[in-house]
Amino acid sequence: MSFGWIKSEDYSFNSFLLLEEFQIRLALENRGWSKEKDEWSKNMGIALVANPVVAWYFKHRCPKCVHLVDKLMDKAPTAIDKEVREAESYILLSLEDFTIHTTPEKMAKSCDYIRGWDKERLFSLADFNGKVVLDIGAGSGRLTFAAASCASMVYAVEPVSTLREFIRNKIADKVISNVRVTDGFVESIPYPDNTFDIVMSGHVLGDDLEKELVEKERVCKVGGYMLNVPGDSEFHIGSFKALVDKGWEEIHYVGSYGKDVHIHRKMKTERSEE
Ligand SMILES: C[S@@+](CC[C@H](N)C(=O)[O-])C[C@H]1O[C@@H](n2cnc3c(N)ncnc32)[C@H](O)[C@@H]1O
Repeated sequence: MSFGWIKSEDYSFNSFLLLEEFQIRLALENRGWSKEKDEWSKNMGIALVANPVVAWYFKHRCPKCVHLVDKLMDKAPTAIDKEVREAESYILLSLEDFTIHTTPEKMAKSCDYIRGWDKERLFSLADFNGKVVLDIGAGSGRLTFAAASCASMVYAVEPVSTLREFIRNKIADKVISNVRVTDGFVESIPYPDNTFDIVMSGHVLGDDLEKELVEKERVCKVGGYMLNVPGDSEFHIGSFKALVDKGWEEIHYVGSYGKDVHIHRKMKTERSEE
């Protein structure tokens, strides 16, 4: 499914020289999450053969992927220039959520969930005044900067270096003194137990939900809130049953594009610590 965030002609295949190890691994292991696995493999094979520097980078940045890269390249059919560019475009689009991370300024402007969102949605979930907040998988800082307008301190954790840099540049440009940025993953949050009044994320949960929720709860103080706050999207954001089953409160609203949005919160209690 395309979110319409990028135009492939705006991106060189060299954009993938900016991917992180985990993105290369996920893309190759899941074959772009494509329904047409053979078509995806054919196009990635063609694109890698035509872009040996990207193939070298994938193999050296992600040694676990060497056999996958070699297999894709070995099986790739011979292609003329036009077919190569078509294959590159197909792959850039199939991985658009990774492609867009290579241009954070465009991400902040083009992604529906960022441009169509109102920060009052966040403040409807908890009182941020004077709080110590964690934003996990902070992206371009949609939730981070909203929270920073009234929290005492916001810690943004983000595993993609281009996005960390974007947030740091914004902090410097706008002379913001209460945001700190670090590398890290939601499955292993790089902070001690019971550190934050509010632990939030948007469009991050779901790959390994059990582990992710244990981690969010671990770093949240008793009496603090854990939040899941996707932005408004041009597509429906449906109910998140697995969160509701875990005792999270689900709030529904119709977003700025006229589509359903579901957001969530849960207070950490002494009981949930056991
Ligand atoms: C769709 S973006 C959402 C960005 C931001 N949370 C927002 O809602 O505006 C998903 C973000 O999660 C990050 N991410 C991906 N896997 C992650 C993981 N395992 N742990 C933490 N963040 C992750 C991505 O790098 C990206 O910045």
